[in-house]
Amino acid sequence: MGETAKIILDGKTYEFPVIVGTENEKAIDISKLRAQSGYITLDNGFGNTGACLSAITFLDGEKGILRYRGYPVEQIAEKSTFVETAYLLIHGELPTAKESQAFSDSFTAHAELHKDMLNFFQGYPSTAHPMGILSAMLCSLSAYHPELLNPEPSPQEIKILAAQLLSKVRTISAYTYRKMNGLPFVPPRKDLKYIPNFLYMMFSTPKKEYKIDQTVVDALRALLILHADHEQNCSTSTVRVVGSSWANLFASISAGVCALWGPLHGGANQEVVEMLEQIKADGGNIQKYIDKAKAPDSNYRLMGFGHRVYKNFDPRAKIIKQKADEVLKKLGVHDPLLDIAMKLEEAVLKDEYFVKRKLYPNVDFYSGIIYKAMGIPVDMFTVMFAIGRMPGWIAHWKEMRENPDSKICRPRQVYNGKLQRDYVPIGKR
Ligand code: CMC
Repeated sequence: MGETAKIILDGKTYEFPVIVGTENEKAIDISKLRAQSGYITLDNGFGNTGACLSAITFLDGEKGILRYRGYPVEQIAEKSTFVETAYLLIHGELPTAKESQAFSDSFTAHAELHKDMLNFFQGYPSTAHPMGILSAMLCSLSAYHPELLNPEPSPQEIKILAAQLLSKVRTISAYTYRKMNGLPFVPPRKDLKYIPNFLYMMFSTPKKEYKIDQTVVDALRALLILHADHEQNCSTSTVRVVGSSWANLFASISAGVCALWGPLHGGANQEVVEMLEQIKADGGNIQKYIDKAKAPDSNYRLMGFGHRVYKNFDPRAKIIKQKADEVLKKLGVHDPLLDIAMKLEEAVLKDEYFVKRKLYPNVDFYSGIIYKAMGIPVDMFTVMFAIGRMPGWIAHWKEMRENPDSKICRPRQVYNGKLQRDYVPIGKR
C-alpha cells in the first residue's frame, strides 16, 4: 500500500489513500470519507478540490508553469498552429502530416451552417450580447444533428462532433459580428486556413475582400493557442459537469460558453478594456482606481489582475504583453490604452495590497488591446476567448466520457436553513 492520510474524527482514525500525479502533485482520495465516517468536506469555490484525474494540461501556479500534454505553452505558442494545438489537446499527441491534413479537411467539410440557422441571427436585436448568441447557436446545432446526440458516442462520432464545433464556432462568431454590424454574411472558403478564413468571414465587405495580414494572423494564432486549455477552470468544469450527466457535446459546450461569459472569468477581457477606457476618460488617474479596488468596503476589482491558481505570474500574460507591443508596432497603431495598461501594471506590482495578495496581470489584461488593434469590437472579445477555449472544452469532455470510472457530478452541501416546521395558511401568516 502507498502513502496514506489519517483523519481523526470523533476520536476514531480513518485512513485514506494518497494519489500522486506524474508531476508529483499530491491529493487525498476522500471519496469514501462520508460512507465511513458520515462527514463530508466543505470547500467554497472548490479551491482545494480535485474533481478528476486529467492528462491534458499541467499547471503549476506557484512556478508559473503551463504545459499542454507535456509541451511548454511557450513552445507551442511560438511554433505550433492553432489547429495542430487543438489536435494535440484532443487526441493527446501532435499529429503526423497525414493526420493534420485529415483534421483540417474535417473543418472545411463542417464549416457552413444549415441555411435555416442563418434565419436565427435575424431574430436577435442588434444590442444582443454576442456570447448569448454564441451559446444559443452552439446548442441549436443539436437540432440539426440528431445523428450526433447518442449519449454514448463512438470514437468516430466524437471526431465529427469535435470538427463540427471547432469549425462552426468560427462561422457562428463571424456571422454574429456581421449581424451586429448590419453586414451580409460572408460564407467560409474551402481554400483558406482556420485563422485567415475567420478573418475573411469577419472583415470582407461587399466591395472589398479582406486582405490577409500576416501580423494579425500570427497574433491571433498565438492568442487562440494561449487560451486553448487551462485545466479545471470555471467553464471547463461546467462542460465536465454538464457532460457528466451524458448530455451531448453541443449542450455541454453551450453551457461552458455561458460560464465563460462572466466578468470574473472570460468576460474579464471586455471589462479590462472598458476599465482602461474609463481611466483614460477620467484623465488617466490610475491611483484613483487602485485606491477604489483597495477600499475595504468596496467590491470594485481591477479587471485583468489576480488568478485562482497563478500566485507568481501568469505565463500566458507574459507572452501576450510582448505580442501586444509587437502587433501595435507592426500595425503602426498607437493605442493610449496600452500606455495606461503598462502604467497600471507597474503601479500594481509595487503596491503592497496587490503584492501581499499575489495579484498579477492575467491572460485577459493585454489580450483586449490586441483584439482592439485588429478591429475586433469590445463585446466580441469574450467570443474570441471561446473560439480559443473550444479545443480544451472538447478535450475534457472526451477525456471524461472515455473514462469508464467517471461519474455524474453531484456535490453535497451542509444545510444551514430552517429546521422542520408546519405549513401556515396564507391568512394566518
Ligand atoms: N482587484 C482587487 N482585489 C482583488 C482582485 C482584483 N482584481 N482579485 C482578487 N482581489 C483580492 C480580493 O478582494 C481578496 O482580498 P481579501 O483577501 O482582502 O478579501 C483577495 O484578493 C483574494 O481574492 P479572491 O476573490 O478570494 O480570489 P479568487 O481566487 O477567488 O479569485 C479571480 C480569482 C480571478 C476571480 C479574482 O482575482 C478576480 O476577480 N480578478 C478580476 C477578474 C479577472 O481578471 N478575471 C480573469 C481571470 S483570468 C481568465 C480566466 O481564466 O478566467
